[in-house]
Amino acid sequence: MSASDCRQHCVQVALGPRSYTIRIGRGLLAEAAQHLRAAAPNLSQAALITDRNVEPLYAAPLQKQFQSAGIPTNVLVVEPGEASKTIAVATRLWEALLQDGADRKTVVVAVGGGVVGDLAGFVAAAYARGVRLYQVPTSLLAQVDSSVGGKVGVDLPKAKNMVGAFWQPVGVLIDPATLHTLPEREYISGLAEVVKYGMILDADLLVRLEQQVEAIRRRDEEELAWVVARCCRLKADVVEQDEREETGLRAILNYGHTFAHAFETLTGYSQLLHGEAVAMGMDCAARLAVRLGRLDTETALRQRRLLEALGLPIQPPSLDPEQVLEVMRRDKKASHGRLRFILPDRLGHVELVESVPADEVRVVLRTGNNT
Ligand SMILES: NC(=O)c1ccc[n+]([C@@H]2O[C@H](COP(=O)([O-])OP(=O)(O)OC[C@H]3O[C@@H](n4cnc5c(N)ncnc54)[C@H](O)[C@@H]3O)[C@@H](O)[C@H]2O)c1
Ligand SMILES: [Zn+2]
Repeated sequence: MSASDCRQHCVQVALGPRSYTIRIGRGLLAEAAQHLRAAAPNLSQAALITDRNVEPLYAAPLQKQFQSAGIPTNVLVVEPGEASKTIAVATRLWEALLQDGADRKTVVVAVGGGVVGDLAGFVAAAYARGVRLYQVPTSLLAQVDSSVGGKVGVDLPKAKNMVGAFWQPVGVLIDPATLHTLPEREYISGLAEVVKYGMILDADLLVRLEQQVEAIRRRDEEELAWVVARCCRLKADVVEQDEREETGLRAILNYGHTFAHAFETLTGYSQLLHGEAVAMGMDCAARLAVRLGRLDTETALRQRRLLEALGLPIQPPSLDPEQVLEVMRRDKKASHGRLRFILPDRLGHVELVESVPADEVRVVLRTGNNT
């Protein structure tokens, strides 16, 4: 199947022999078997990995569909949530694959949010030294971020995403209709990454988001298909140029994330959803950029108005700025304890700024959102 067969949106990810197509459109789930076969020729069977929430909604119907299409299919279910992203759960899945007779022609199909995608991807990357992975992301975060780019992995007790691989999928299938069942808070949280793409790379996307706030909030499928496709294209552009995070370009995807990771760490990963922390982090980063004379106040306020209109929080939790700074200095993306940030200098453009004075960060953390 070629891109011209694409009924709605297709994003080609050009990575030489690891190239693949991301298909985005309403109703695509109903044709998943045909897309899976096209992306994974000669498959012997499918192993659907999902979580307990997504299983009845999307994995069970997909199993039925695949079996009707003559693809032997097993469903492996994990508990929902980050706690499933462990080596222990991966081991259980490898044993289940072995039990089900999975071989090198088996395709692992990840059906769920980012947790399922990262975990199932890691399971696929290592089983039998690597079997094919197909992604069917069902959360907004997974559709615009985690299913694109090939980063897969699990957490260590003290370090998120510490063990993993770069393992590109053979295809990604995104049906925006799945977003209707996503809990409101999860949905809104995913919108933070969407705003991030606009701020770092695409002023036009940002303007469109401003105009379409109402359609986005009611989860209009046409609008979402467009927005998700645009975000996938933007991430794919970055990944194509820096697949393994070697040139530094991929770092721009971490806009707002240095602050966000510190907020998540210090609140024990229980209070904030990732996108909520990212929204707060982007507001902090924009205010920091204003303080450093790199961004005009109006652009920082414009970002804030959009985040708020989409329902995202921007006021960080009250934390000791010294603790926040300490966590930031330990961040694996910090260079030798120096503070570096991805900061916007205009709409749709960011820069990596090295050696930011700690005092400026302190002020940003202390003043909260009273720019
Ligand atoms: N690999 C990458 O490049 C990358 C990038 C960003 C984030 N991540 C990872 O992604 C994970 C977070 O992903 P997430 O936010 O999707 O969390 P998640 O996978 O935990 O999903 C959030 C919740 O929504 C439920 N859910 C998912 N889709 C649903 C649907 N359509 N209807 C109803 N419920 C649904 C899930 O069961 C879960 O309870 C983190 O582990 C993070 O590290 C990875
Ligand atoms: Zn993120």
